[in-house]
Amino acid sequence: MTQNPQRYTITAALPYTNGPIHIGHLAGVYVPADIYSRFLRMQGHDVAFVCGSDEHGVPITIKAKKEGITPQDVVDKYNGIIKKSFEEFGISFDNYSRTSGKTHHDTASDFFRKMYEDGKFIEETTKQLYDAEAGQFLADRFVTGTCPKCGNEEAYGDQCEKCGTSLNATDLINPKSTITGAVPTLKETRHWFLPLDQYEDWLKEWILKGHKADWKSNVYGQVKSWIDDGLRARAVTRDLDWGIPVPVEGADGKVLYVWFDAPIGYISSTKEWAEREGKDWEPYWKDENTKLIHFIGKDNIVFHCIIFPVMLKAHGDYILPENVPANEFLNLEGNKLSTSKNWAVWLHEYLEDFPEQQDVLRYVLTANAPETKDNDFTWKDFQARNNNELVAIFGNFINRVIVLTNKYYNGVIPQPEAFLEIDEKTIAELKAYPAVIASSIQKYRFREAQGELMNLARLGNKYLADEEPWKVIKEDEARVKTIMYVALQIASALATLSEPFLPFTSAKLKKMLNQQEEISEIPAWDKIETQKTLLPAGHQIGKAELLFSKIEDTAIEKQLEKLQATKAANEMENQKAEPQKDLATFDDFTKMDLRVGKILEAEKMPKTKKLMKLKVDTGIDQRTIVSGIAEHFSAEEIIGKQVTVLVNLAPRALRGVESEGMILMTENAEGKLVFVNPDGENVKAGTIIS
Ligand code: 2FM
Ligand code: ZN
Repeated sequence: MTQNPQRYTITAALPYTNGPIHIGHLAGVYVPADIYSRFLRMQGHDVAFVCGSDEHGVPITIKAKKEGITPQDVVDKYNGIIKKSFEEFGISFDNYSRTSGKTHHDTASDFFRKMYEDGKFIEETTKQLYDAEAGQFLADRFVTGTCPKCGNEEAYGDQCEKCGTSLNATDLINPKSTITGAVPTLKETRHWFLPLDQYEDWLKEWILKGHKADWKSNVYGQVKSWIDDGLRARAVTRDLDWGIPVPVEGADGKVLYVWFDAPIGYISSTKEWAEREGKDWEPYWKDENTKLIHFIGKDNIVFHCIIFPVMLKAHGDYILPENVPANEFLNLEGNKLSTSKNWAVWLHEYLEDFPEQQDVLRYVLTANAPETKDNDFTWKDFQARNNNELVAIFGNFINRVIVLTNKYYNGVIPQPEAFLEIDEKTIAELKAYPAVIASSIQKYRFREAQGELMNLARLGNKYLADEEPWKVIKEDEARVKTIMYVALQIASALATLSEPFLPFTSAKLKKMLNQQEEISEIPAWDKIETQKTLLPAGHQIGKAELLFSKIEDTAIEKQLEKLQATKAANEMENQKAEPQKDLATFDDFTKMDLRVGKILEAEKMPKTKKLMKLKVDTGIDQRTIVSGIAEHFSAEEIIGKQVTVLVNLAPRALRGVESEGMILMTENAEGKLVFVNPDGENVKAGTIIS
């Protein structure tokens, strides 16, 4: 227990349950939130780390429509996948809830009802976008159009994801229904609005004055610009049939806006956890001494820094967030991650392809965390960071320490002899790390913090490389005792300090070192600085196991091929057919003599890039045809192939060779030429194609 235990409520954005979790979600939200929560728990603080599935909202309805299933089927499927993958990945939520659950429906309904009864909403009948063909009002992702602020042509009815601005659907320029593609009409409907404009002064005071210094500049900057632009009332109810029914009289067919109910999901999740643990949930949301921290991606800033705080303030019973350390976006191999385009590394697939290697992904995502700007994930970098950093630095140091201790002392830590200057210096450097790493974590600079952890492993590696116990043992056994003793203290510190970042590695290493961390007044983290010895002489350690293993090129190639296939599938889907050419008469058509031919010989033509000289059996004769396919095929792979030949094309000379016909070809989605052939069937050469 730390001397000043503090209560923390840590929330991680509730993922939409219309697809699995990918590396963008992990890097932006869940890995940093997990590092932070694990660190706080290690410090002896009282932490509620909550999350859950965001199961309402238009994206889920759209997915259900597309797949011909119900929204409930969609959320049941993805909630299962998401929950399991988080658990296997070691995200240490205290509770993972669902917004379709009863606790949440009750909590969100009560929240709305209290605000309604206290007169915090404006009730108004306004004209809203309507798709007459679909018989549906268009809000949120049911409508796209041009953002009036930044010109993005794919802004949604509630938000432009490009500039982050929160919108009313009627703000969109050239709106278009995503259900039917129709241009919407306007139709009257009654809704409840949250008058954000009435809270402008309060927001200025609370955020602009109160959090200028401690919120990340990307978060503060965005929020400031929205407040400076002026805020407007936002509807918090919708005409939809999927969601939490609006809990007041005369609101049939209306549900709460998903962004009204989702953040209340943090409260519901805390309630479920407290009930299970026999605790009181209220201090976690109502005690001014509790620190409430929201981990989110940048597209959620407006909801967590303006709309939800206004809801909490208007309700009146709740505390406000202390910080909202939002991250920027992670891209994948240079392109924006996308659930709908399947451009992602899916967590559940990663866990299958790289079993027992959770920490490698955690490490790479933190090393490349998009903390201050968008960043890119590449498989080559993933491999390099594993092989050159985790294996070569961290793993190598630990392996040497454990193997040598077992070899020289049967695994019993030796009593050190005299300390030289280098030993004192190394121990002093070691003792500085806990405070340095903690300070970076407290500032939400997880990338920097993990970098320092690796510097400690580097310190250990360098110490062993300089002191060379494997050489010194031949002439000075006493000196080696001190070297190994010092190296073991570094290994022990690594076991403790790596826990927030690399929890699986930390557990494995503690097991190897037979290191138990008792709960005591002083956290193990702080003992590294204050305690003379971490692992005492005489302590028995275990045998060496591999902490990390090399990732081979074949594993990376497999992942790159997967992405290549996705790219090809997307291009195929987006490929638009060329407009039809001018009409041909039947006579024009019958003039063309198309036959099945067989390639007998093929030879790339010298001094050209594209041309290949072919000998083709047309059934009528064997003739020479010059074809521009040399960049796409080797001669060997096409010999014997059946192809479609236009045999009565007037001969023409190409680079001095007379070509007597044309092979018909087309281009696939990847831009590769493919033969237009009789579907692999063995058809006699010369057969007419008509
Ligand atoms: O962007 C998203 O995936 C949202 N489902 C996040 C919701 S966060 C919270 F408010 F619940
Ligand atoms: Zn915009």
